[in-house]
Amino acid sequence: MSGFSIEWLTLREPYDLAARNATVLDAMLAAFSGQASIAVVDLACGTGSTFRAISKRLPARQNWRLVDNDLGLLASASALGRPPEVTVAAKAVDLVRDLELALDGPVDLITTSALLDLVSEEWLERLMVEAAARRLPVYAALSYDGRVSFDPAGPFDADIVAAVNRHQHGNKGFGPALGPDAVAAAKLIAKRVGYSFVEGSSDWAFGTNDAPIQREVLRGFADAAAELRDLPSAHVTGWLAQRLDLIAAGASSMRVGHLDFFAMPMPIR
Ligand SMILES: C[S@@+](CC[C@H](N)C(=O)[O-])C[C@H]1O[C@@H](n2cnc3c(N)ncnc32)[C@H](O)[C@@H]1O
Repeated sequence: MSGFSIEWLTLREPYDLAARNATVLDAMLAAFSGQASIAVVDLACGTGSTFRAISKRLPARQNWRLVDNDLGLLASASALGRPPEVTVAAKAVDLVRDLELALDGPVDLITTSALLDLVSEEWLERLMVEAAARRLPVYAALSYDGRVSFDPAGPFDADIVAAVNRHQHGNKGFGPALGPDAVAAAKLIAKRVGYSFVEGSSDWAFGTNDAPIQREVLRGFADAAAELRDLPSAHVTGWLAQRLDLIAAGASSMRVGHLDFFAMPMPIR
């Protein structure tokens, strides 16, 4: 499965949904309670997982703009089932080139999920400055934060996780990626642009029965570690083989750290 394939996004969606931080989500919902309608732009929407996660809890009349640069994912997102008072427009936008275009027009809320660990500090700054210029709140879920734990733990886990976290800083199209530092960087920028900031953890928790997602995550970790070439390749393949054996035996569980945040412009005095 590739990084943004429909298969991968579909596999991870129930874990993302379960992981979303309730305090952060409630802070976002409270900002719009009592409103009859809302216009949302979802950046890097994939197949529409943020829409599915939150639309039932937002004001009834909704206008969604779903933005991505992958036409296959957008086609899947635009086929979303929805009640008549909810409109959804899927828009192909390269967020590196045309972030501002994605935000233009009537918008009350910017959402995104599983994006900010892919972007550079420069792009994140651009997003927050553009949001502040329009006085728009930002709800960003599921940014990887570098914490991974395995049960049972193994002797090479820490080496692999350290390699994965170094690999996370590679360029994913937005410049050198923030990777696990994304939410800390967002917090600093939010403060600078006069935003309040609520954050909370949204870790993936995989139990012994969650074999397919554990296998995919571990293969992704091994690929990332192998690509960096700073660990002996036999360590990486040996580590993966041992962990896959534990999964096959129904004896592996793991936790992958993520963070959500809701940032909102503070009232001007
Ligand atoms: C990890 S997926 C997350 C998708 C979705 N938000 C979710 O939570 O399932 C990252 C998304 O970023 C999109 N993406 C990556 N680079 C992009 C760019 N330059 N412009 C627009 N979207 C981009 C991918 O197509 C993909 O849908």
